[in-house]
Amino acid sequence: MPSAHYNMTSPTLKIVTIVGARPQFIKAAPVSKLLRTTRHTEILVHTGQHYDDGMSDIFFREMEIPEPDINLGVGSGTHGRQTGEMLVGIEKVLLEETPDCVLVYGDTNSTLAGALAAAKLQIPVAHVEAGLRSYNREMPEEHNRVVADHCSDILFCPTKTAVKNLRKEGFTNIANEGKFIESLDSLPPTPYHVPLVVNVGDTMYDAVIQFSEIAQKRSTILDTMKIQHGEYYLATLHRPYNVDKPETLREILSAFLELDKPVIFPVHPRTQQKIAALDAAFRKKLQKSSVTQIDPVGYLDMLMLEKNARAILTDSGGMQKEAYFFGVPCLTLRPETEWVETMKSGWNVVVGSSKVSIIEKTNSKRTPSSKRISFGDGKAAGKIISILNHISKR
Ligand code: UD1
Ligand code: UDP
Repeated sequence: MPSAHYNMTSPTLKIVTIVGARPQFIKAAPVSKLLRTTRHTEILVHTGQHYDDGMSDIFFREMEIPEPDINLGVGSGTHGRQTGEMLVGIEKVLLEETPDCVLVYGDTNSTLAGALAAAKLQIPVAHVEAGLRSYNREMPEEHNRVVADHCSDILFCPTKTAVKNLRKEGFTNIANEGKFIESLDSLPPTPYHVPLVVNVGDTMYDAVIQFSEIAQKRSTILDTMKIQHGEYYLATLHRPYNVDKPETLREILSAFLELDKPVIFPVHPRTQQKIAALDAAFRKKLQKSSVTQIDPVGYLDMLMLEKNARAILTDSGGMQKEAYFFGVPCLTLRPETEWVETMKSGWNVVVGSSKVSIIEKTNSKRTPSSKRISFGDGKAAGKIISILNHISKR
């Protein structure tokens, strides 16, 4: 574990935030908004990992995220090239700006590059959504999470499980014994010589609370698509292990073809490319079926699609949680999940990628418990900023 090297002594914080991929815009939105309305300075850096309007700009517009101050325009590429170019770009920004702290989110290559660049320059790193583990090293995200966490000085966990995972990896300076932090009084009293782990709740929950009503008012997707509450399944897919192998992709799509309700399928660009490479006969069958492929949608449309779905079939991390927040059953198209809380009450079931298992589990009548475990109080962003500010005064 790194020894803590932070000394946030300025009265107002200067924070460099690193984002780059779709889920990070959503995770950062509540925090970036609040940082601007408090007395702190935020320099928002977009790595350019995602760049299509539907994967990037639409979230800035809809969620009123401040325009990025810097866009590194790194774009797509192999892991090494993409992460390497981000490192070079982020390092340059950090040397010029000398911030008090670097904020990184989630588990993408942008997260890894941000955390590593800052740690090498001895700039404090705060990781939002720290401590998540799938224990599946086939996922590029698992490597990113482990490295980002071990480069971090402040680890903002969304759940108790995340804290538990970090404890197993040797983190000892844990606020409030890993329980959700209600007030700053439960921060450890001593100066922080070692990385601090705090359970603040989930900023994605903040975002759902902030935008659900707005989505209800502004989104027209249900009318446009002529779909009704409870009468369709919502599906998304983008994990390389599901979509990069044609046989696995075909297996999952074949299951979609046999479900008892239409499937609305906003297709991630990686998956669009992989579907386009499948054989023509299969693509034709898919085109003519009750599986409706659409381009990725904005956040407001997605909230409405999620909230009204009969069930959600997905390999997305964020969508498993959103299904849970809305009380919509979720079938996770993966061998495991890092969001184990969502499984405890039966709202989420891990079904893997086999056609038989997907169809069987989707059709089976599940009765999830009505009780759902909290992912915080919808004010994770405020807690994150208060904690950063509090530490800066020590
Ligand atoms: C990335 C993250 C993943 C996250 C996901 C969210 C890594 C290693 N992966 O996966 O953790 O869950 O984002 O969506 O950081 N593309 C476009 N337009 C875009 C962006 C991508 O066409 O705006 C295409 C490119 O061909 C690219 C491919 O999608 O090669 C994959 O993009 P990339 O960012 O490398 O990985 P994701 O699968 O999006
Ligand atoms: N999302 C969206 N439009 C889409 C697909 C996803 O707005 O077409 C949102 C979704 O609501 C969630 C986030 O993007 O908030 C999840 O991102 P993604 O699935 O790309 O990544 P992951 O969560 O798996 O890292």
